[in-house]
Amino acid sequence: MVLLDFIRYHQHLMGTKIGCREGDCGACTVLVGELTDSQLRYRSMTCCLMPLGNAAGKHIVTIEGINPADRELNPIQQAMTDEGATQCGFCTPGFVISLAGFCLDHKKPSYKAAIAAIDGNICRCTGYKSIERAAAKITDLLKDRDNEEPTSFVSRAKLLPAYFSTIKARLQTLTDANESDHLATGSERSKSIIVGGGTDLYVQRHDTMVHSDIRVTGAYPGQQHIALEGDVCTIGPGVTVSDLAVSPIIQEAFPEFPRYMKLVSSTPIRNMATIAGNFINASPIGDFTIFFLALDAQLELSTKPESRKSRTMPLRRLYKGYKQLDMLEGEYIRRIMFRLPARTELFHFEKVSKRMHLDIATVNTAIHLRMMNDTIKNAGLSAGGVGPVPLFLQKTSEYLTGKSINRENILEAINIAQTEISPISDARGTKEYKRLLLTQLLKAHFISLFPINEKLNLLENG
Ligand SMILES: Cc1cc2nc3c(=O)[nH]c(=O)nc-3n(C[C@H](O)[C@H](O)[C@H](O)COP(=O)(O)OP(=O)(O)OC[C@H]3O[C@@H](n4cnc5c(N)ncnc54)[C@H](O)[C@@H]3O)c2cc1C
Ligand code: FES
Ligand code: FES
Repeated sequence: MVLLDFIRYHQHLMGTKIGCREGDCGACTVLVGELTDSQLRYRSMTCCLMPLGNAAGKHIVTIEGINPADRELNPIQQAMTDEGATQCGFCTPGFVISLAGFCLDHKKPSYKAAIAAIDGNICRCTGYKSIERAAAKITDLLKDRDNEEPTSFVSRAKLLPAYFSTIKARLQTLTDANESDHLATGSERSKSIIVGGGTDLYVQRHDTMVHSDIRVTGAYPGQQHIALEGDVCTIGPGVTVSDLAVSPIIQEAFPEFPRYMKLVSSTPIRNMATIAGNFINASPIGDFTIFFLALDAQLELSTKPESRKSRTMPLRRLYKGYKQLDMLEGEYIRRIMFRLPARTELFHFEKVSKRMHLDIATVNTAIHLRMMNDTIKNAGLSAGGVGPVPLFLQKTSEYLTGKSINRENILEAINIAQTEISPISDARGTKEYKRLLLTQLLKAHFISLFPINEKLNLLENG
């Protein structure tokens, strides 16, 4: 079952609300506390999409868990009340939980970060200005935190109950006990459905998932690693978008990653969504699929976590047709490997959707270039929303290799790209519009990567 139903119908904690059951509204937001590298980290998640198995070894915080013992309001709740930030109250537990997550975040607190923390919460009746004022007040409550560990500060400052300062030790005990269990179940059930964060599966197959045998990658110890060996970066099957965002390896190689990431879903969904799940869902517009196609990521496929038998396949060869994958029964992505771009290499990602934030792409594209002076030594170009599968633009990439950066070459590359795509008209736009979008986004790649190259001159004539 999903964690939401366990919370409400087994634990009888009714403060966590049911809204959309699709990860969109944030009414069911909980905090998930987890030990990573001996650091206790809390992240907000929508528990309507979270299989109960993903809660193993973690601290789940519902709205009831942040009430003070004396039944008064805590300062976060008080700020919401004082600012008139709640009306019917249906969304309020979700907002309060997300703001509690902001108070527990290790990053330096700022008003901007408080607003970002509630980007997955929708209020349909109060209006957002009063909620924003409450967020400002809550930010102010953290001004004296300095370098103090967040759980220690929130307990000491009575923002959250004192028991938060005991959680780290309690989680350590759980982690030690859980380790062997997960590996055992993982090896026995090679035919069960693999679940990463569940953010696709529990939206698409909500009713049947409850009756299915599942294997959760997120709860296996060691599945969330991001490691660098030489120039090859390896990421585990449980690695989420948010894990990538906080990884120093990724931050150094992709300085623009935070901006790209903000174009993808919301904070709670990014906290759950795995990169492997994005690949296997095989949506033609999967944002991280497009990102990693340009980087020529390789997949290590196996049937068991600990099996010696595995094969390696380029992500570029995974897609055989709409939602058809070149995978054998029982195989799963055990590792994702890609060569980390050196400082001299160029990478860029573009996405256009009907709304700038919290929306899936109409068209998205990524480019990776290795340069030798003014000449492209190697190019990788991908595009989504313009065919039945996420596309690696092979002919365009081959054409660009060996070319110098100038207007004629780039326009010719765009012409070739147009021959590689086959968009269809749908709710997100007509096929002509999608063709135009890809043309403009390919120009945007080069304008962004070569802002002062006079030979490029792509803005002329649109
Ligand atoms: C509100 C909302 C907004 C979203 N916005 C975006 C967006 O802007 N951009 C975007 O690209 N996506 C978006 N998504 C889709 C989704 O979040 C992503 O595709 C996500 O990366 C899926 O990962 P997951 O771990 O949740 O996958 P799951 O739902 O757990 O699994 C998806 C598929 O992958 C398989 N799978 C998972 N892990 C493995 C593995 N290791 N090996 C083999 N198979 C595996 C599962 O069996 C399943 O078939 C959104 C979803 C929601 C609910
Ligand atoms: S009920 Fe809407 S996000 Fe979970
Ligand atoms: S207070 Fe009614 S939906 Fe937000």
